[in-house]
Amino acid sequence: MCGIIGYTGFSNATGILLKGLKSLEYRGYDSAGIAVHNENESKVLVTKCKGRVEALAQKCTDIKGNSGVGHTRWATHGEVSDCNSHPHKFGAVTLVHNGIIENYEAIRNQLGIEDKLKSQTDSEIVSALIDTYYAKSKSPEKAIIKAVKEIKGTYALGVMFDDIENTIFAVRNVSPIVCCQNENGSYIASDIVAIGEYSKDYFVLPELTIAKITGDKIEISDFSGNEVTPDYMKLDWDINDSGKKEFPFYMEKEIHEQPNVIEKTISFRIKDGLPDFGIDGVDDSIFTDCDSITVIACGTAMHSGLIGKHIIEKLCAVPVNVQMASEYMYNEPIINDKTLVICVSQSGETIDTLEALKYARKRGARSLSIVNVKGSTIARESENVIYTNAGPEIAVASTKAYTTQVAVFYLICAKMAYLRGRMSVDECREFINELKKVPLAVKEILEQSDKIHHLSNSLLTSEHTFMIGRGLDYPTLLEASLKLKEISYIHSEAFASGELKHGTIALITAKTPVIALLTQDKLMSKQISNIREVQSRGASVIKFIKKSLAKDTECDFELPDLKDDFMAIPSITAMQLLAYYVSSDKGLDVDKPRNLAKVVTVE
Ligand code: M6R
Repeated sequence: MCGIIGYTGFSNATGILLKGLKSLEYRGYDSAGIAVHNENESKVLVTKCKGRVEALAQKCTDIKGNSGVGHTRWATHGEVSDCNSHPHKFGAVTLVHNGIIENYEAIRNQLGIEDKLKSQTDSEIVSALIDTYYAKSKSPEKAIIKAVKEIKGTYALGVMFDDIENTIFAVRNVSPIVCCQNENGSYIASDIVAIGEYSKDYFVLPELTIAKITGDKIEISDFSGNEVTPDYMKLDWDINDSGKKEFPFYMEKEIHEQPNVIEKTISFRIKDGLPDFGIDGVDDSIFTDCDSITVIACGTAMHSGLIGKHIIEKLCAVPVNVQMASEYMYNEPIINDKTLVICVSQSGETIDTLEALKYARKRGARSLSIVNVKGSTIARESENVIYTNAGPEIAVASTKAYTTQVAVFYLICAKMAYLRGRMSVDECREFINELKKVPLAVKEILEQSDKIHHLSNSLLTSEHTFMIGRGLDYPTLLEASLKLKEISYIHSEAFASGELKHGTIALITAKTPVIALLTQDKLMSKQISNIREVQSRGASVIKFIKKSLAKDTECDFELPDLKDDFMAIPSITAMQLLAYYVSSDKGLDVDKPRNLAKVVTVE
């Protein structure tokens, strides 16, 4: 949550900072600010305000200086206001912060600075602490290191000093900072999307090191002053693809990218028709040595784990337990060296997932993570990592990250079933062959977007909606329901159809539209009976049915035919579009739903 950026070099910083902040807005969008070192006045000047980066840009038309830092905020400490916006300046020190300082009140009391503070944030305290030490030592590095050694919590900091021109400093613990350089200067940001246009070569600033950044070099040292050489990575997607293109919202663009990114995620992991994780360096033993799997994730990523559970339990006969990361370690989980923990995360930064991963590893679990962002913290903390190739996902509502996560679960399932002798070579090839048909099935759905748009009209004025399905369709609807509620603000709940009559059916009226999903052959007749039950209570039902099952029943939308186990991805694509159209037709900001941020780095 929150995005930071920094630049120092040979151009005016303002434009670079504002442009970068625009692409970091997905991390938080309640206020924004920049601080630029003004050469004439020999000090750092701060411009910030409540609202989006666009509002900030209007205030920044005449700011000149070659180095600066910027911030886009998702409020944690203190209301959304101009003064709580970053950057924060205290004495000679100006900084931007992404993270949470847990002991900020103790530090504030220790410094005795209550009456000097301008905000209610934890971050301002850090600028005060650094300023205190800087006043004594006059060494920026020493002051920053001494300060961060005292703070408890997570932080990515971009720091500037009034009396040090053309230089910014960066330091981090857990929260990310990536850095790159070109002939025009040096850049730091929370995410490579903000600075990837300047260089394809970048590195993640190692934790607990400090970077001194000037126009022509980035010097990194550990807290004892030893030089540290970072590991450079190559940007492996085209930064020009990261804009919205012809789409009004990122979400729609990202939904449409799915056939391509699913294909990209699976194709280079199939060799001779069989799943192969050689490219990821994942050893077969990870799939054979475990006697149970625990999937740990949050929100949409957790829903991908529910699909994984369904297919792995069925085809590999290995028990799979799916846990909300935020609850995991408080539930005294059973962990031993035969437990394989699979963490799933688009960002690779979700703090709940990260903490749960660390907890499980400490207790002896083997670990594998399915992550989208390369080099992210969860990827680095995990023993094994399989990257989804979804490319940058900017819309807060996750779409292509989810379907690529599910695609990886299909590969894992096939690999595991094959290695454990639950699938013959031919069966495994047949399974993979069906998986390869998924991108085309998704394309077929996208080609019928208009039809789904039309169906979405009946939801526009609803306050509540229910979604019902059985078997694999139930976890798909949990995800569909999350999509609808987070971007359209319509209350939606997904139910296993048979469960409805154990209580919730009391809520069904003519005013509660029901969305029914039917893709599972053996559950068809039971699901039809459940649909009748809600229709008898006045509800109108929108039915999404797999083509081959739709022959003898009324159907609103026919889903393309794949074997039952593979219907999760085409089905959710239809549901993503449904949610998208409801939200856009209600005139909402689809990509930036209220109260949310894309990357959740607070517990
Ligand atoms: O980055 P992560 O995948 O770890 O994020 C986990 C959830 O916060 C995320 O999936 C969230 O539920 C979605 N953005 C909702 O669409």
